[in-house]
Amino acid sequence: MIDFWTRTATPEDMDAIAALNEAAFGGPDEARVTRQLQADGDSLISLVAENESGLVGHIEFFRILIDGEPAGAGLGPLSAKPCLQKSGIGSYLVRTGLEELDMLGETIVFVLGHDTYYPRFGFAAETAQSFAAPWSGPHFMAIRLAPGGPTSGTLTYPRAFS
Ligand SMILES: CC(C)(COP(=O)(O)OP(=O)(O)OC[C@H]1O[C@@H](n2cnc3c(N)ncnc32)[C@H](O)[C@@H]1OP(=O)(O)O)[C@@H](O)C(=O)NCCC(=O)NCCS
Repeated sequence: MIDFWTRTATPEDMDAIAALNEAAFGGPDEARVTRQLQADGDSLISLVAENESGLVGHIEFFRILIDGEPAGAGLGPLSAKPCLQKSGIGSYLVRTGLEELDMLGETIVFVLGHDTYYPRFGFAAETAQSFAAPWSGPHFMAIRLAPGGPTSGTLTYPRAFS
C-alpha cells in the first residue's frame, strides 16, 4: 500500500487531472469529458488522490436524470497514475466517493466500466438492467446506496457524454 491522501478537486487541479486522465486512458476523450462535466455544472463530486509528487488519482461523479428528475448519479472517469496502478488508489477513490454520495442522499449510482473491477464495490449489471440507458450489457452496472430511490426509468446522461 502506498502513501496517498484524498481531497475534493479544485479548479486549479483541472490541468493536472486532464494529464492524469490522458495518461491512464491513453487518449484525450476522458479528459474532455471531465472538463465538460465541470464546465456544465454536471459534476456532483470530484475527488483527487495525491502524494508528495502530485496527483496520483482522480474520480468524477455526475448527475444522471431518471425520468427527467435529478435522482441518479454516475461514476466516471476514474484514473490512477499508470506507474502506481494496482496499489489501492482506484478502490479508495470509489469507496470514498460512494460514501460521500450516500451522505448527500443519493440512492443509486451507475457505471459503464470493467465488469471484473466494479462488482467488488457492489455494482451489478442486474441493478442497472431495469433502466433504459444509452448502454446495456455486462459493463453497464449500478449500485443501490439506500432504499427508496427509483427502481426503473429512463436515464439522461450529461451533455459531456453525447
Ligand atoms: C481501473 C483503475 C482506475 C483501477 O485503479 P487501481 O488503483 O489501479 O486499482 P486498485 O489498486 O484499487 O485495485 C486493483 C485491482 O483492480 C484490478 N484492475 C485494475 N485495472 C483493471 C482493469 N482495467 N480491468 C479490470 N480490473 C482491473 C486489478 O487487477 C486489481 O485486482 P485484484 O485486487 O483482484 O488484484 C486503473 O487501473 C486505471 O486508471 N486504469 C486505466 C483507466 C481505466 O480503465 N479507468 C476505469 C474505466 S472503467
